Amino acid sequence: MIIADLVIRSGKVVSSDSVIAASVAIKDGLVIAVGDDSAMPQATETLDARGLHVLPGAIDVHVHFRDPGYPHKEDFASGTAAAAFGGVTTVFDMPNTIPPTGTPDALAAKHRIAAEKAHVDFGLYGLLGEDTIEHVPEMAKSVIGFKLYMGNTFGKIPTPSTGGMLEAFEVVAPTGKRVSLHAETNSIMERRETRMRQAGRIDPLAHIASRPAVVAVEAVSRAATLAEWTGARIHILHISSAEELRPLREAKARGVEITGETCPHYVLLSIEDYARFAGVIRVNPPVREARNQQPIWNALADGTIDVIATDHAPHSPEEKTRNDIWTVDCGFPGVETQMPLMLTEVNAGRFNISDYVRWSAANPAKIWGLYPRKGVIAPGAEADIAIVDLIREWTIDDAKLQSLSKITPFHRRRVKGMPIHTLVRGRFVMKDRTLLPGTRGWGRPVHAIQNLPAPHLRNIDQTMKMIVRVGETVRPRESVA
Ligand code: DOR
Ligand code: ZN
Repeated sequence: MIIADLVIRSGKVVSSDSVIAASVAIKDGLVIAVGDDSAMPQATETLDARGLHVLPGAIDVHVHFRDPGYPHKEDFASGTAAAAFGGVTTVFDMPNTIPPTGTPDALAAKHRIAAEKAHVDFGLYGLLGEDTIEHVPEMAKSVIGFKLYMGNTFGKIPTPSTGGMLEAFEVVAPTGKRVSLHAETNSIMERRETRMRQAGRIDPLAHIASRPAVVAVEAVSRAATLAEWTGARIHILHISSAEELRPLREAKARGVEITGETCPHYVLLSIEDYARFAGVIRVNPPVREARNQQPIWNALADGTIDVIATDHAPHSPEEKTRNDIWTVDCGFPGVETQMPLMLTEVNAGRFNISDYVRWSAANPAKIWGLYPRKGVIAPGAEADIAIVDLIREWTIDDAKLQSLSKITPFHRRRVKGMPIHTLVRGRFVMKDRTLLPGTRGWGRPVHAIQNLPAPHLRNIDQTMKMIVRVGETVRPRESVA
């Protein structure tokens, strides 16, 4: 007889296409059964989830954990603790650290750091620039994907020329790894910023004036052209404007392997918030006019944008509150507040909770080759789970964030929906809003499960609707390329 390690009893289990009243049995880190409580095996531990929603943990494909290089901003321990409090069970970390993650040695060093400190699972991006192309084949073995900066932002990573970018795509394409793009064209921004500075502008709005949406339109269009030419898979990070949706839609329609992402700040904040938040809201790309918000929501709804991520970019209060906007570090933390902010929109009726799971978990898992091992609660999947109280109302308080950076433009915002417990591969990492001791170092790298040979794929979401026979042997689900 099978004895499960844990049964999460009688919650509402959410997938990207359904919400069912069900219990979830977990053993050895895997989900072994989803179904009626009476069909669950005996378990060493049970958790009463009545009244709670049981979601696949979010996969945040865009975080900056600053490790190594900026210990006062964040490290892998504080960043992944923040993730756990935000219901995020896997993070993909960006390469603009010191040193940048652009050589096999730097990558190996970051893997050691993350493995020692991470509370949740992690993928690492390799930096793709003109002088890292030679390292692509080696780095491809242990990255979740590559990151290419078409425009300057924090860390002053050099921007490749179009020629360099084409070569970079040519080298990455055969590896199958996806290239995530900071799609803002540098030469436009540099000229604009110079003009603003010459005019003596140091106010927060000068930042957005130096980065009009055409920087993104031009960059997305050019990236799509090069991806189409080379067959490279690409992902457009942090979509901020209505205008850049056009080249994204057109590229998708042409069959380019392109996906898109937006972040909570582009749909929840606008230019009206600059007066209140000043440098705190400075982020690249900038938060724009409110007229951009609805088109971005629509693009999520119609599948033009595939993913919600955060661009979690911690800095110290001193670095965010300088008077001269050009000296303010760009970005703010987000990994911990994304889920409550989005559940608030679910509560407001903007979309349903299955839509949210599609954008935050299922699609990221599919796009980066982790599905159905991650991104879904179904037999054989890893038990990466966020258990949330959807009707719990509370107020975001920067001082209470797990991130070392306790300064965000969401401070004092009222939200409805709170992650109460977070499990990573069957283990509670955060329980009752407390980080569990001993979970530092529990996080594992996810790159190794990418691009395995595709197994015979059944429609996994169908398994949500049936009771899995207790005692059935469940093997780990492999990932699909
Ligand atoms: O505002 C930003 N901050 N945008 C980025 O692209 C990078 C990030 C950072 O690393 O601080
Ligand atoms: Zn970023």
